[in-house]
Amino acid sequence: MKRRILLGAAIAVSVSLSAGVSFADTPPLAVKDTYRVGFAQMESNNPWRIAETKSFHDTAKSCGWELIATDAAGSAAKQVADVDSMIAQGIDVLFLPPREEKPLLPAVMKAKAAGIPTFLIDRSVDSNIAQAGEHFVAFLGSDFIEQGNRAAEWLIDNFAGEKGVIVELEGTTGSSPANDRKKGFDDRILQDDRFEIVASQTGDFARDLGRQVMETLLQAHPDVNVVYAHNDEMAIGAIQALELAGRKPGVDITVVSIDGTRDALQAIIDGKMGVTVESSPFFGPLACDVMKKYAAGEKIPGWVKVEDRVFTIENAADHIDEAY
Ligand code: AHR
Repeated sequence: MKRRILLGAAIAVSVSLSAGVSFADTPPLAVKDTYRVGFAQMESNNPWRIAETKSFHDTAKSCGWELIATDAAGSAAKQVADVDSMIAQGIDVLFLPPREEKPLLPAVMKAKAAGIPTFLIDRSVDSNIAQAGEHFVAFLGSDFIEQGNRAAEWLIDNFAGEKGVIVELEGTTGSSPANDRKKGFDDRILQDDRFEIVASQTGDFARDLGRQVMETLLQAHPDVNVVYAHNDEMAIGAIQALELAGRKPGVDITVVSIDGTRDALQAIIDGKMGVTVESSPFFGPLACDVMKKYAAGEKIPGWVKVEDRVFTIENAADHIDEAY
């Protein structure tokens, strides 16, 4: 049977319902020794994504996963196609980090229609359309609004100048961390009238783009003295652009960021970055634990929240050896 599912104004998808079976809640998962598991990664162009994929591979054997892992190379359309292919290969369960909030909705809906429980990993989808407990089992991940809040609070407490002129480097447009890290930071920082955000532009969570965008924004706003980047890769790119332009990150410009990569912790130790709020990529063990609890019939909360730390000059050296 073919059914047309409407996903908001712009997106519609046709799905086949297997033998007329449909699920009001998320599909069940049998208790088994081994599971065929799909992990549909969005891209592998930064250390965070590489560490996350490795965490799934490292967990596979001990969790009884026959892991099918794909890389969508930065394309939401390919990520949807990768999930289609996993469904065709008969996966029991899907772990999905959706690159953007809306374009990945069809993948979530199609997995459900095929009787496959989906766990959203590290990013979420549009909650006006897809809900935990109905379309997907749960979102496993950080509180991105809180991460933005914490970056802003560090800046408020540590900025010594009179006027903070901020350039914001946003993550991938339409992704949940870009939306929420912006909201969390902007709402908090603008409560302090020392600060002004003079430009906010996407660097797509990528180092090269972060560097290029910073170069351009520096010309338009030479008085900038704070950079807030939605992830460490863009922050490192921005530091490179600033240094090329003769600026001194950590001395005449404060850099605040999110993730906790090795390069960011090194930049903090070197005095070039002020803070990075942690966003852990090590989801493999958590995914195994939550999946097994779900199979055993335990009630899973709609949001399995990951608690994050904050890395500054006080503790960066203590954690660099475990960083990725
Ligand atoms: O979804 C989490 C974000 O995605 C990380 O902060 C970023 O580095 C990654 O690409």
